Amino acid sequence: MDRDRQELVRILKGAYSGELAAGLAYRGHWKSVRNAGERASIQKIEREEAVHRQRVGEILASLGARPLKLREAKMWMIGQTIGLSCHALGRFLPMYFAGRLESGNVVEYEDAASHARALGLLEFEADLLGMARVEKEHEMFFLSVVTGHRLLPLVRAIFKWGACDAEAPEAIEAESEPASQPTS
Ligand SMILES: [Fe+2]
Ligand SMILES: [Fe+2]
Repeated sequence: MDRDRQELVRILKGAYSGELAAGLAYRGHWKSVRNAGERASIQKIEREEAVHRQRVGEILASLGARPLKLREAKMWMIGQTIGLSCHALGRFLPMYFAGRLESGNVVEYEDAASHARALGLLEFEADLLGMARVEKEHEMFFLSVVTGHRLLPLVRAIFKWGACDAEAPEAIEAESEPASQPTS
């Protein structure tokens, strides 16, 4: 139980600062994108990361934990740097790496949800699975943007993300439903 609590807090501290970096990176990203529809989608993603950060902060506080100041500073710098670099990298690479990052976020929130479940914190589990589902929607958006690009096969072979058979967002909650029910 202590181990689950430690792991949950560790993951959430990372996620809290990661959401800051993501929000800043997406702010730079949408400013660098010309297509109005893509711009609006990335703006929406930026807003959703802010919602995640707020909720993760609340969960951390109820677990008696606080974000790490040093990590906050580091992720602020990383987010700003990525946001600025989007203007120089063209269209494909920022979209690709955003999608790859989002796929990691899905796993991170699913892990956090499983620790919350082990601790009997079912409300947190539901919230974290909801966040995993939204991260999956983000991943699918970026995947849809890069699919068919001539560089995708090469970049996919190197960085191991970008297959078209990614799981649909709805599958996250559907998969986890039985685990949330009382067991006999
Ligand atoms: Fe997020
Ligand atoms: Fe995201």
